[in-house]
Amino acid sequence: MENKKIKEVKELLEKDLVETDDLKVLEELRVKYLGKKGLITELNSEIKNIPNEEKKEFGMLVNELKNTFNSYYDETKNKIDTKILNEKLEKEAIDISLPSTKVEIGAPNILEKVIEEVEEVFMSMGYDVVDGPEIELDKYNFEMLNIPKGHPARDAQDTFYIEGEEVLLRSQTSPVQVRTMLKGEGKVPIRMICPGKTYRRDDDDATHSHQFMQIEGLLVDKDISLSDLKGTMDVLFKRLYGKDVETRFRPSYYQFTEPSVEVDITCVSCHGKGCNVCKNTGWVTVVGAGMVHPNVLRMSGYDPEVWSGFAFGFGAERLAMMKYGINDLRVFYNTDLREIKTFDREDEE
Ligand code: DAH
Repeated sequence: MENKKIKEVKELLEKDLVETDDLKVLEELRVKYLGKKGLITELNSEIKNIPNEEKKEFGMLVNELKNTFNSYYDETKNKIDTKILNEKLEKEAIDISLPSTKVEIGAPNILEKVIEEVEEVFMSMGYDVVDGPEIELDKYNFEMLNIPKGHPARDAQDTFYIEGEEVLLRSQTSPVQVRTMLKGEGKVPIRMICPGKTYRRDDDDATHSHQFMQIEGLLVDKDISLSDLKGTMDVLFKRLYGKDVETRFRPSYYQFTEPSVEVDITCVSCHGKGCNVCKNTGWVTVVGAGMVHPNVLRMSGYDPEVWSGFAFGFGAERLAMMKYGINDLRVFYNTDLREIKTFDREDEE
């Protein structure tokens, strides 16, 4: 009777153990034969009912069935696993003959490029490029530049206040002159330029921006005169815009320089012939400058009887606008990259 059962299971096994590449089918077979209530499992638990003298043989036969199933199972499982792996490898293989996705290469912002050009000119003349804080004290932004509280010159440089009346966003890079002199502790020469962001309470339009870039310059040494400033400006603009560019001074007024000048250069658009950029004068004003005021030297620890110097400041956007023929300041600060990229490309050509 028991042997009959074994025979039945054996016959079933012969029918069931066919080739398959389906893991689900394989698992179902495992449950059918070796699961908790599997056919072979059941045979195994019947051993206890077998008369002693037949036990051994019965056990061997059941073991044989188990071995048959297990080797079928291992072999099939291996085959299926290999097949799945191969399929996966094939599917995920990288086709190196496909064209690659194009990575767009960025370019420096044209404002940054102009600033770098200016830095290079001045570095070649021995200047340091320094940094100053954008959040500044009233003391450095105004007072130590000879612009005391209540001075009307403050109106044109109304800015944003961070804390009370003393901490503000700098309205000009000129406070870096003061900071540099204080750090210099009376030593000469001082030769520095400082490019950086500046802020004013202006409404944004084609020629105004609440945030813009200035480049400040300061030189302090012995026997410095306006002609040194003139020569320096001449070198700068010839290097930036070409050898035929001329520089001229017009008298002006700044609180921290005496005398003060406006620096004009021949119009880059029309080479001095007259056009709408220069309002037909042939000249455009690009820099505010002058000899450092004795009060400013004194307040920062330099004796004006011994030392003298010149200072200048200009807007970086202005230079870039002239160089690239841009007529709206907002191009630099809005988020439409197409505009900036146009000028970029022109530059590469
Ligand atoms: N800070 C001035 C401004 O924002 C520009 C300027 C004028 C800077 C004369 C200077 C200078 O260093 O000497 O309008």
